[in-house]
Formats: sequence, C-alpha cells, structure tokens
Amino acid sequence: MSEVKRTEEEITREGNPRKPQGEEGKVMLDRMNHSHYEVTGWALAHWKIKGDDQILDIGCGGGMTLHRMTEQLTTGHATGVDYSGVSVEETGKLNEAFVKEGKLTVLEASVEKLPFKDDTFDKIITVESFYFWPDPQANLKEVHRVLKKGGTFLLVADVYQNGHLTEQQKKNITRYELFNPTEEEFREIFQIAGFAETVIHTRDGENWICVEGHK
Ligand SMILES: C[S@@+](CC[C@H](N)C(=O)[O-])C[C@H]1O[C@@H](n2cnc3c(N)ncnc32)[C@H](O)[C@@H]1O
Repeated sequence: MSEVKRTEEEITREGNPRKPQGEEGKVMLDRMNHSHYEVTGWALAHWKIKGDDQILDIGCGGGMTLHRMTEQLTTGHATGVDYSGVSVEETGKLNEAFVKEGKLTVLEASVEKLPFKDDTFDKIITVESFYFWPDPQANLKEVHRVLKKGGTFLLVADVYQNGHLTEQQKKNITRYELFNPTEEEFREIFQIAGFAETVIHTRDGENWICVEGHK
C-alpha cells in the first residue's frame, strides 16, 4: 500500500504539477483528470453553461474539464490554454473529436499574457492552477481583461486551509510553495483586479474552495 503511495508521490514530483513535462507528466495529467473530477463538478454546478457560451480554461492540464464543458455547447466554443507543451498535447488528444469539429481550441500560453482581445469570454475557469501563477494579482487582472462584461470567472482548488488538509496536501503546499489565500485575501485581490462582485463557496468537511468573480 505505502509502496503504491510512494510511487504516486514520485510520479507527481517527476511529472511536475507546476509545469507538466515528459512521460511522467502525461501519467500525472491523466491521474488529475480523474482526481480533480469531483471538485470540478461541484464548482461547475455554480454555473449554468449555455449552448452558445465562449469558454476559456486556464491551466487546462489533461483537458477533462474542457471535455465536460464542451459537451454542453451547441454553437459555442471552448478554448484551453496551458504554458506546458505536454498539457496542450494531452488536452488535444483527449478532445480530438471536438477539435476536429471546430468546437475546441487549445493553445500554449501563460496566464501572464493571454493571447485574446479584451472582453472575449462569457465564462473562464481555472482548476488547481492559480496557486502556481507567478503574479496572482497581475494575472487576475489579465483574466478580468479577457472576460466579457456580465461574465463569470470560477477559480477552483482543493487545498483551501480550513483545517481539513491531509498531511500530503500540507506537504504539497510547502513543497510547491503554493499561493493559498484566505477568503478575505481572495476578496481583496479579486476586487483589486476589477471584479464587481466576488462570491466564495466552500464545502463542509472538504478543502474545496470555489471563488466566483463577476465582471
Ligand atoms: C495541477 S495542474 C491542473 C490541471 C487541470 N486544470 C486539472 O484540474 O487537472 C496545473 C496546470 O496549470 C498549468 N499552469 C501553471 N502555471 C501556469 C501559467 N502561468 N499559465 C498557464 N498554465 C499554467 C500547469 O502547466 C498545469 O497543467
């Protein structure tokens, strides 16, 4: 049992969750597609995706979140960005049919400089990625820039410090130097970034946090 656990930990370390790389990166992204599924589903329930939405996923990783959102689109379009070439490749593979249909595009880019015009997206999501961003305050401004007026940004993570963190999660926060704000700090940085309203959801008994920023 502990042997398996250690191997998983090693895969994560070698795969580098901050910027997935190599074969270990691919294995790790595949695992995250499943391990982040539940928290992402909980967060997505705070949205009502419309068929014609223009959606962006920042730090799209293995592409599962994009997959489940794109399934709900009719005339709309989903875009994924990630600054890891391996993530872009894996997202493309998982969503090959949607890419061929023209419903989904995936690009290699960093949240620091999103390759989109102002006011492009109705909805923007980021799952388990913001805590790696190099300059959270400036990067949130960039997210706000490409969101349409009336649009919503959802920031999702399962390492919120509400006392239920596992030892492994605590270790990960330290090891990867994750940016892990309190609710008050989230409200402040969202407001400074320009969001008109910030709504925070947490889930009892879990470390889940979902911050909704409305423009
Ligand atoms: C822990 S993984 C999560 C992947 C996916 N969102 C999920 O929930 O499974 C973090 C992802 O964020 C990406 N990422 C980190 N910093 C980024 C940045 N500055 N710009 C774009 N993507 C970034 C990483 O490359 C990685 O794919």
